[in-house]
Amino acid sequence: MHDVMNLPRMEFPKGFLWGSSTSAYQIEGDCPHNDWDRGAREGRWKEACGKACNHYALYKEDVELIRSLGHPAYRFSIEWSRVEPEEGRFDAAATEHYVDLCRRLTAAGIQPWVTLFHFTNPIWFADKGEWNKEENIGCFLRFVEYIVPKIAPYAEGWAPINEYNFYSGAPNQPEDHRRLANYAFNVLLADAGAYDIIKAHSAKPCGSPMAYLTLQPFRPHDPFDQAMTDYADWVANGWYYHAIRTGELVYPFTDARYCPQVKGRADFWGVNIYARDLVDSRRKACRADGRYPHRALRLVQSAEKPWEFSPDELMANLCRLKDKPVYITENGLATDDDRFRIVYMALHLAAIRQAMDFGVDLRSYFHWSLFDNYEWGSFDPKYGLVGFDKKTFARQPKPSAWFYKDVIAANGVSGDLVRKHLADVPSMPVACHRQGPS
Ligand code: BGC
Repeated sequence: MHDVMNLPRMEFPKGFLWGSSTSAYQIEGDCPHNDWDRGAREGRWKEACGKACNHYALYKEDVELIRSLGHPAYRFSIEWSRVEPEEGRFDAAATEHYVDLCRRLTAAGIQPWVTLFHFTNPIWFADKGEWNKEENIGCFLRFVEYIVPKIAPYAEGWAPINEYNFYSGAPNQPEDHRRLANYAFNVLLADAGAYDIIKAHSAKPCGSPMAYLTLQPFRPHDPFDQAMTDYADWVANGWYYHAIRTGELVYPFTDARYCPQVKGRADFWGVNIYARDLVDSRRKACRADGRYPHRALRLVQSAEKPWEFSPDELMANLCRLKDKPVYITENGLATDDDRFRIVYMALHLAAIRQAMDFGVDLRSYFHWSLFDNYEWGSFDPKYGLVGFDKKTFARQPKPSAWFYKDVIAANGVSGDLVRKHLADVPSMPVACHRQGPS
């Protein structure tokens, strides 16, 4: 499995959906009305987003680019702070922009997959206390009511809230479980409310992507590491699946709530998958950063935050999701050496294909990301199939973009395809960055 140059040919079922993924703030540029942009003005991030990839201005050309790369689907998000820059005032030009983007994608034969919230809050919403207050959920639902009917004629798939589990956190989060639970419950309730609105206007599949963490005990047979791993998995992944499966919201140190309005509010499991985390019960932070036993594939690392990936364990993790179709809504790698992207993609696709043999109903693969984008505080991490010139914004597809185009055309992956695009497997280590919103 790990001999990437000699992968057997693995074909995907007919109708399997291929695409790439982005989010509005990370690529659009000139977007002053959200809390991330305000954060930049306050000097909170290493780098400001600025013009990013200038995609808001160049979206017509970018639709052509996506077509030329052979992507049958494209997942993007609508920037709430553009559409509703002030509370209750909807901007017609911004609305028309997103409708036009959808129209052009559809005309180019590319399915629009639409996310309605990807990490950025309009400033007015942030100032009201955003998701900390249950009464604020209505603000988001008002936006959803407004935008969904306009986009519904084009959208082929929906995600109300990207990584709604991101907010309840992984084991490194502060100890204030009740505050986190309150926040996370509100996000989940908003997601479920948005699901109902979407379903009133569209028959297309709807499900929000999880940041699906693959957690493993640092010492495989240590009972404390195992217990902490189960706990971390519950907080990061498990309670969401349980909530949608049953309507019961169960979170540590918090009274459980029964919310029937959440039950069944996902047509599929959307999963964003990147790397794995090891859980070490002997450390306060629980994460075993930097002290990896050599059990997993360790192709990439950075001095600040080592990162490893493990396609086999990812596959095992996917096997827990057999009760609904599964859409891979993000998978990708930040690396300055594009050759690793090809290796990473090939091995993950092979693992995903194997999970299908084990009975997981996998329907899509969206690569993160189409562009080298604004990676929440910095442009250093390079996740893109396509780079761009910082001055002219000229798009520069990388070899991995052509590899992926071949994968899509072949509807599968193989060692032959890898060898066509990669003379050899590069030696390690190489700079790699992984970070997210703080
Ligand atoms: C997020 C993206 C982010 C990516 C890489 C995902 O969790 O949805 O916004 O860029 O990870 O860190």
